[in-house]
Amino acid sequence: MKKQNRLSKLVSTDGLQHAGYLAVAKTRAKVLKAFSYVIPIRRPMLFVGETSCDELCDMLINEGSTNVFIVTDAVLNKLGIPAKVTDYLDKKDISYHVYDGVTPDPTFKVVEEGLRQSLDAKCDSIVAIGGGSVIDAAKMIAMSQGNKCKPQQLIGILKARKPATPLYCIPTTAGTGSEATLGAVVSDDDTHQKALSIDPRMVPLAAAIDPIIMKGMPAHITADTGIDVLTHALEAWMSVNASVETDYYAASAIKSVMHYLPIVYEDGGDLKAREAMGIAAHYGGIAFNKAGLGYVHAIAHQLGAYYRIPHGRANAIVLPYVLDVNRHASKKRLAALAKKIGMVQEGQAAGSDSEIADHLIAQVRDLIKTLHTDPAVQDMQTSDFDKIAKAAAKEVSETYAVPTYLSGSEIKEILTKIKQASDTSADKS
Ligand SMILES: NC(=O)c1ccc[n+]([C@@H]2O[C@H](COP(=O)([O-])OP(=O)(O)OC[C@H]3O[C@@H](n4cnc5c(N)ncnc54)[C@H](O)[C@@H]3O)[C@@H](O)[C@H]2O)c1
Ligand SMILES: [Fe+2]
Repeated sequence: MKKQNRLSKLVSTDGLQHAGYLAVAKTRAKVLKAFSYVIPIRRPMLFVGETSCDELCDMLINEGSTNVFIVTDAVLNKLGIPAKVTDYLDKKDISYHVYDGVTPDPTFKVVEEGLRQSLDAKCDSIVAIGGGSVIDAAKMIAMSQGNKCKPQQLIGILKARKPATPLYCIPTTAGTGSEATLGAVVSDDDTHQKALSIDPRMVPLAAAIDPIIMKGMPAHITADTGIDVLTHALEAWMSVNASVETDYYAASAIKSVMHYLPIVYEDGGDLKAREAMGIAAHYGGIAFNKAGLGYVHAIAHQLGAYYRIPHGRANAIVLPYVLDVNRHASKKRLAALAKKIGMVQEGQAAGSDSEIADHLIAQVRDLIKTLHTDPAVQDMQTSDFDKIAKAAAKEVSETYAVPTYLSGSEIKEILTKIKQASDTSADKS
């Protein structure tokens, strides 16, 4: 608590470059790096392909589960997506209870209701079937059930003492990579501010990436969630805490997104592209699990909390501006990335790092354009900018290891540009 107050004082929006703020932020980044090397992060068993859901069910049965708690949302339940799992469990004579009360950006109430139902039904394992919202809610239910505690008690780093109730995840979006990560995001019921729980015990036992399950995802959700993958991987790549391991996963994810996202946006039924995007999302999750994220997420989380912009879309709106401000500090890294993923041709590779980094940033902007991402942030108020900048700066200093730290006015400049683009798009429509 004392530490938080100290940081809040340092993070006055006009004094973000206060030497104390930078010192605290950089020390935290080093601690996070040490943490990621000292604490082993388990990887889930990964099943991929059209029979992957059956294989995941076989695994949980093999592990001794007899009564499964299925966490999903009402949209997916109405579309019949959980049936792929429930039909198989019926065939195997395994009981289950379906909770479809998860809402986008789940709140504590959503998690508490799921926990209550899982305990009432005496379920011994949990299967999440959904996007990041469902998976995060399921992670919090599993951790609360396993630790016999309230979800609020798990907010922070390493708050659990016992393992989670066995958790299995079937992502229905190719976005968050939450099925691979050690974190879950829960929103406050009233303010919608996001709180983070981080613990390696949260990593599921297994995940299934099934392209059939993602086939019906509407194009705009495909686009938004796909840019979330790209943002995870780019922020992990630019992180000061990046390593050979995180670079491998980040670069693979970025290469896949740049190639497959436009394809799957045009033709959602392309199963090869769906599967590739599912794996890219998973790889993005592995990369940022260790290397962390950055200002795109820190600002996007605020746009979600203040203006209810979906997570992936908020990233798509913020990403180009943060790439622009990182360009100087990250030009070498961005140029190396462009070469690694074959984004530059033989002749272009002779260009300067700045030129190659600019080329990569332009490609990212083109991709976002191709996906017709709506840049509008409804009701964006300049009077909110101070609070947004302060919260974003606090998230960065507490959680990420960024290549360049921004002052309050630099963050507000980004917000002003977003508002201008939003107003322009409103005028056009
Ligand atoms: N834990 C982590 O590591 C992590 C990382 C990034 C983001 N997140 C969190 O994940 C959440 C966002 O998750 P998301 O982007 O996957 O979106 P989401 O889970 O909120 O889903 C968005 C919408 O898409 C619908 N949908 C999902 N799959 C579909 C399908 N196959 N067909 C049709 N409709 C489908 C859902 O019903 C929902 O209405 C945010 O709360 C964010 O904070 C978590
Ligand atoms: Fe994200």
